[in-house]
Amino acid sequence: MVNVFNAARHEESFRKKAAGSLTRFEEAKASLAGGVSSGLRRAQRPFPMYFESGSGSKIRDVDGNAYIDYTLAWGPLILGHAPEPVNQALASQLLKGHTWGAQHDLEIEVSRLLTSVIPCASRVCFANSGTEIVQVALRLARASTGRAKFLKFEGHYHGWDDSVLVSYHPSAAEIERYGDAPVPAGSGQRAHQDAVIAQWNDRASVEAAFAAHGSEISCVICEPMLCNSGCIEPLQGFLEFLREITRSNGSLLIFDEVITGFRLSLGGAQEHYGVTPDLATFAKAIAGGLPLSAMAGTEEAMEPIASGRVVHAGTLNGNPLALAAAAATIRTLAADGGSAYARMWRLGLELREGMQYQLKRKGVVVCVTGGGPVFQLHFQKSAPVTYRDTLAHDRALYSDFAMALLDEGILALPDGRWYVSAAHTEDDVRKTIDAVGRL
Ligand SMILES: Cc1ncc(COP(=O)(O)O)c(C=O)c1O
Repeated sequence: MVNVFNAARHEESFRKKAAGSLTRFEEAKASLAGGVSSGLRRAQRPFPMYFESGSGSKIRDVDGNAYIDYTLAWGPLILGHAPEPVNQALASQLLKGHTWGAQHDLEIEVSRLLTSVIPCASRVCFANSGTEIVQVALRLARASTGRAKFLKFEGHYHGWDDSVLVSYHPSAAEIERYGDAPVPAGSGQRAHQDAVIAQWNDRASVEAAFAAHGSEISCVICEPMLCNSGCIEPLQGFLEFLREITRSNGSLLIFDEVITGFRLSLGGAQEHYGVTPDLATFAKAIAGGLPLSAMAGTEEAMEPIASGRVVHAGTLNGNPLALAAAAATIRTLAADGGSAYARMWRLGLELREGMQYQLKRKGVVVCVTGGGPVFQLHFQKSAPVTYRDTLAHDRALYSDFAMALLDEGILALPDGRWYVSAAHTEDDVRKTIDAVGRL
């Protein structure tokens, strides 16, 4: 498998044509810590890139190179770059004001839209990022149950707060060292001992966690499709099992739909899989690229926020710019009977099958998991079922693949996850599959 993608040649060629990004990255480091605004962006090979514009499915870097973009800003750009309906909504709101720290009609409009499309949503509340809204959900679960702990799964990501950034991507050595105890992702983290860790798709590990800590567990939180560690779907009946065990234990079930929300379907993973949680968190695609997050829940689950017993605050919460973008995004996705979803699912399938075919022709061992608009290429023999299975992925080979594709004008995330938007076309998919064939 050595050199199958001619990565060294591609890297040399790319370094020449994208030199402007490297110059800027070096310059940025003198004033911006680490040269990036979010630590995970450092993972891009050969260096973090600088962009100047995006339109539809394409993004252009500072050297004028255009790429078909399958990163979609790590998920939010469900309608592609700078979509017309969102542009118009923003332009008209810009002239009226940016934020008021007070009530306005868009709050009613967007909360009604959300309660009409999300199965668990009888009430919603807003914040600005996925990290924040997950904390609101956990606080609510603690307040409703009077319990301190929460159960999370290894490999699942729920933002960068101390409490949840545990057992996210533990190495084999860390798993060996910590066993089932929470593994902090970086130094300086505290309060992470409230997490009880279980294995995704493994009923026995969840039952064992409840047997050991059941009376202390306020909620189970999960990505209903494990997008942050390989787009691993729940096994048949697993979400139903979580619904059942939380109910019988008096704990809440929280779906973290920050990725799956408005991506798998208008009603998120809960609509797609037909299992309704007590609470669900949304961000990323909800506002098509503007900073907005929301929590949705049953009337009963949201009562402590409605009554003010649980504090939920934030200066920019529900600001009119983000909500104008959300209204435009959701209405566009819902138009024409939700035809955008049929299209994203079809193109996603064509893309994954086409790439898989080309890779197999080259002798690359590959399997694909996920669903339509978000999927993952794994360079390993069998599709992972739980986080630990993903450790078999040939990361070095995948990094060569992503590097070679970048030189071919295809931008994909470094970890193997691919996002498809409503702006991608048959032509984009064909060009991408051809590029994989050429490597
Ligand atoms: C499932 C999930 N939850 C929470 C978050 C945190 O969201 P944010 O980056 O907006 O804080 C992310 C971010 O990638 C996510 O994927």
